[in-house]
Amino acid sequence: MKVRKAVVTAAGWGTRFLPATKAQPKEMLPLIDKPVIQYVIEEAVASGITQIIIVTALGKRAIEDHFDRSAELEQALRAKGEAKRLAEVQRLSNLADISYIRQKEQLGLGHAVLTAKYLVGDEPFALLLPDDVIVHTTPCLKQMLRAWERLGGSLVAVQKVRREEAPAYGIIRPRPLGGRLYGVEGLVEKPSPQEAPSNLGIVGRYILSPSIFAALEATPRGRGGELQLTDGLERLRPQEPVFAYEFLGKRHDTGTPLGLLKAAVALALAREDLGAELQEYLRGLKL
Ligand code: UTP
Repeated sequence: MKVRKAVVTAAGWGTRFLPATKAQPKEMLPLIDKPVIQYVIEEAVASGITQIIIVTALGKRAIEDHFDRSAELEQALRAKGEAKRLAEVQRLSNLADISYIRQKEQLGLGHAVLTAKYLVGDEPFALLLPDDVIVHTTPCLKQMLRAWERLGGSLVAVQKVRREEAPAYGIIRPRPLGGRLYGVEGLVEKPSPQEAPSNLGIVGRYILSPSIFAALEATPRGRGGELQLTDGLERLRPQEPVFAYEFLGKRHDTGTPLGLLKAAVALALAREDLGAELQEYLRGLKL
């Protein structure tokens, strides 16, 4: 079976960016010159996904406008002779077939995934969290799809994290399967460093079996009073295999102001049009 659909959750409050996120979605904050959410949409498309479902919420309309067509803007760019910018906004509005569904109460990532249940239907799907921007010549989701096509079940992306960072991640208990693959023998959401069953933390890329929906429906609210996807996967595990894949690439956590700033610097330094000048600027800063 082929994975055709991807869910992108963008309904969270984004409290860590207040006041910037009081009247605009966190996912629309720019990472250099593109809103953060555009990076995961492009990754999904580059991985072969054809249908994208974005879970939004109150106050997130700018996301829909961003991926919609703007005839007025196109006309204005045409009149100004801005052919390159015109091509870019046209490309953007034709990126993918995107549907939107609203999460009416922010009850956690697991709840946001459940919100997409009827749009996903009874087929495996990808889940991407826009906070995680992952850079590699082969998109992270594409790497995962290759592994999943051999394995089936559900697959989570993991990376090695420092023990003291464990409380910021879902941590897996791994069974090495060779190479970058692991069987998942347990999952704990945000454990203390002492309780963490390994140093492999889940990052925001998943391929999920549709059985996750029933598992989430049967999962009680967990940490922070939220319905945790990690708890849903732990419930799914005895019925269906869950695997983990240690992806290739550099992950930037854009979910905090410092993380977004670091990502912007790293990505800009790698860009031909910005890198050299930025490097010179950074060198000249009095630290
Ligand atoms: P976070 O835990 O980063 O929460 O969500 P947040 O609300 O986005 O940001 P802070 O912590 O308030 O600063 C992880 C992912 O789950 C989505 C978020 O949009 C993000 O993609 N999410 C979280 C939802 O869609 N709905 C929720 O109820 C909670």
